[in-house]
Amino acid sequence: MHWSLRQSKGFKDILPEEAGRWQLLESETRKLFNSFGFKEIKTPLLERTELFSRSIGQETDIVSKEMYTLKDSKGRGMTLRPEATASMARAYIQHRLYQRSPIQKLFTMGPMFRHERPQKGRFRQFHQINAEFFGDPSPRCDADIIVMAMYLFDRLGFSDLVLNLNSLGCPQCRPGFRKDLMDYLGDKTDSLCTDCQRRAHVNPLRVFDCKVEGCNQSILDAPSVLESLCETCGDHFESVQDYLGRVGIPFDLNHRLVRGLDYYNRTAFEIQTDRLGAQNAVAGGGRYDGLVKLLGGPDHPAIGFAVGMERVVSLLDEDGEREVKRPDLFIVALGGKAEKSCFDWTMALRKKGMWVETDYGSKGLKAQMKKADRLGAKKTLIVGDDEFATGKGLLRDMKTGEQKEVDLQNIVTNLLNLKAIR
Ligand code: HAM
Repeated sequence: MHWSLRQSKGFKDILPEEAGRWQLLESETRKLFNSFGFKEIKTPLLERTELFSRSIGQETDIVSKEMYTLKDSKGRGMTLRPEATASMARAYIQHRLYQRSPIQKLFTMGPMFRHERPQKGRFRQFHQINAEFFGDPSPRCDADIIVMAMYLFDRLGFSDLVLNLNSLGCPQCRPGFRKDLMDYLGDKTDSLCTDCQRRAHVNPLRVFDCKVEGCNQSILDAPSVLESLCETCGDHFESVQDYLGRVGIPFDLNHRLVRGLDYYNRTAFEIQTDRLGAQNAVAGGGRYDGLVKLLGGPDHPAIGFAVGMERVVSLLDEDGEREVKRPDLFIVALGGKAEKSCFDWTMALRKKGMWVETDYGSKGLKAQMKKADRLGAKKTLIVGDDEFATGKGLLRDMKTGEQKEVDLQNIVTNLLNLKAIR
C-alpha cells in the first residue's frame, strides 16, 4: 500500500484476533456495572471546545497541547473528545437528568483523542470505559466507585495492581496548599523547565504532572497536600480509607498524585501496574464536586473514573479468551438443487441464532470439509444432489469423526433441537 494511505502514528486498527479480548472486557464491565446500578449512555465524539477547556483547565497538557480541534461552518471551535467526564457532566445538565433523580450512576465506553507522543500503551486514539456517579457527596460513594474499579480488574484475573490514593482538598483548604507549593517552587525556579516556571505561578499543582527529569527531582521534597487538608476533607478521606479497608482493598497513599486534570477535589486515585512500562496507569479518577456547577448546572457533587481499554486488553492473556468461538454448523452443499435448499436452511438456522457457515464457491467435498475443519465447526451437514433425492443427509461430528444419516424433512427444527450443537 502507498505510504500516504497508511494510518498515521498513534491510530491503530483492532483486528479480529483481538476482538475476543475486547468483547470480554466490555461484557464483564456491563455485568459488573449493572450490579452496581450503573446505566449506559453514549455521547457524541465531537463537542464544543469550550466544554473541555473550561472543565479540564487551560494549563493542563490536554487542553494546552493535545486536543484535536477544528472549526465548524460558523467558525466555532469543535474538539474530538479527549476524555468523557466533561461530556457526561454536560449531558447530566443539558437533559436535566438530576430532575429525575439527583443520583445518576452512568457509564460509557468509546474512543478518546489526544495528540500525545505515541509510545507503548499511549495512542492518539484510544478507548476508555468511564463510570460517573453524580449527586452523592458521601465517602461511601467514593469507596463504591473505587471498589467497582478494583472488582473489574479482579474479574479479569489481575492480582498485581496497585491502588494509589490521595486527597486534593477543597476550595477551603486548597488555596493554603497552593501558596505553600508556590513558595516551595519559588526557590527551585532554576531547575524547572520553562513550562513549569510559568505553571509555578499560575497553576502550581500541574508541576507534579511534568515528565521532565529536572522537574521530577525538584518536587521530591515538595509539601504534602495531605498535611494541609481541612478537618472536613481530612475526615472524608479517613472515612474513604475505612470503607476500603472494610472490603479488604489495599492502597498506597501517594501525596504526589494530582492527576492531570483541574476539575478534581478531595479523593483522587490511580490504579497502576508494573507490566506496561512508562504508561503504567490502567485507570484513574476522583471526585469533581465543582464541575457540574462550573458548567452551569446545579451544585451537585460527583466522582468517577476511566479505564484505559487498550492497556487492559494488552494485559489480558491471549488464552484469556475464555471461550474459543466456533461455528455451530458447517453445511456442505454439492450440486445445484442441494445448494438452493442449503441456502434456505442456512438462513433459517441463522435467523434462530445458530452460527452456520457454508461455502458459496461450489467447491468439491474435500475442499469444503477442509474449510469446515479450518473454521473449527462443531458439526457438518453434508448434502449432495443424491442425498437430496433420497431425503437423507449426513451429519458429521467434527471432533469424533462420527457420521450419521439425518432426515432432511424438518431438518431445520431437528438441527435446532440438537443439544450437542448449541
Ligand atoms: P486520565 O487519567 O486522563 O483520566 O485517563 C484515564 C485512563 O485512560 C488512563 O489511566 C489510561 O489508562 C487511559 N489513557 C489516557 N490517555 C491515554 C492514551 N493516550 N493512550 C492510551 N490510554 C490512555 C481521565 O480521562 C478522566 N476523565 C477520568 C475520570 C473519570 N475522572 C473522573 N471521572
